[in-house]
Amino acid sequence: MTTSDQLRYTKIELNHGSGALPAVGFGTLIPDPGATGRATGDALDVGFRHLDCAERYRNEAAVGDAIQRAFQAGTLRREELFVTTKLWNTNHRPERVKPAFAGSCRRLQLDDVDCYLIHTPFAFRPGDEQDPRDAQGQVIYDSGVTLVETWHAMERLVDDGHCRSIGLSDITLPRLREIVTAARIKPAVVQVESHPFLPEWELLDFCRQHGIVVQAFAALGHAMAPKLLEDPVILDIAARVQRTPAQVALAWAVQRGTAFLTTSTRRQRLEESFDISSLPEDAMQAIRDCIRTRVRYNTVVETGVPGFIARAS
Ligand SMILES: NC(=O)c1ccc[n+]([C@@H]2O[C@H](COP(=O)([O-])OP(=O)(O)OC[C@H]3O[C@@H](n4cnc5c(N)ncnc54)[C@H](OP(=O)(O)O)[C@@H]3O)[C@@H](O)[C@H]2O)c1
Repeated sequence: MTTSDQLRYTKIELNHGSGALPAVGFGTLIPDPGATGRATGDALDVGFRHLDCAERYRNEAAVGDAIQRAFQAGTLRREELFVTTKLWNTNHRPERVKPAFAGSCRRLQLDDVDCYLIHTPFAFRPGDEQDPRDAQGQVIYDSGVTLVETWHAMERLVDDGHCRSIGLSDITLPRLREIVTAARIKPAVVQVESHPFLPEWELLDFCRQHGIVVQAFAALGHAMAPKLLEDPVILDIAARVQRTPAQVALAWAVQRGTAFLTTSTRRQRLEESFDISSLPEDAMQAIRDCIRTRVRYNTVVETGVPGFIARAS
């Protein structure tokens, strides 16, 4: 049986900015702001010290309120908490980056953000409409700005002092190479979908070489079909080490050197997901060698189209 160890407290050093990213992260992609506030409060209470947010989620204020409640209760200090938020697709024009960042800080009620990510590499028509569509229902992209131009505006945020580190999300390896080549300040973090059905080893190797931390979202397969938590290799390891399938998938993520993001509105599941312990080496190897299923649940990397449309199970 696997006994409790320090795996859940793993921190990964960033290549710029201050400090380190807690590998165990709570994601705030929860549609209802009331539920977001309650779940964020529970996540902080359970021990999560890394929150993933986004302008796109339209609930930064609820996350900010939950953080403030923990500060006021004396159960959390700012320096213990790592907060990531993201620049939405409609704000890629360089002159829109600083106001968008300031808006996120204001809603989160924070003077500084630990990491700011470009949410996707796709620029949408600038404006207040997050999901601009034409009469045929097609997304209206913005060809008037390049990703490199947006990146340089992100670098200026770091210069200004309130954004401690910057990175990219939903990025492919070729586009990441492009930014790494052009950057004055290299990406500190890359957030992509990753789990045992989508291990992204090549991207992970590139990130390791360049000191970039990979943050894996959908670490439990987003509860979509085919179900990661019902995979026979995961089930077999879970039975062997007397842990749940979710704990196996999350421990694997940390042990191979990534941070992960998971989300639940149920406190018991948050407790379970925080309570991870190291897996034996042969279990790590079995996940790498014996799982053959390959699935990308989230097609945002192909289109930038917002939303996470669940497949039918
Ligand atoms: N950059 C991007 O484009 C992007 C895209 C998607 C997500 N994200 C980030 O990544 C975060 C996590 O994404 P995700 O929702 O895909 O995460 P996930 O953890 O893979 O999936 C969450 C689902 O798993 C269930 N679950 C949670 N804990 C469980 C456990 N211990 N055992 C069994 N099932 C469990 C939840 O159900 P219940 O809620 O019913 O418990 C929920 O349906 C998001 O909140 C967001 O911050 C980023």
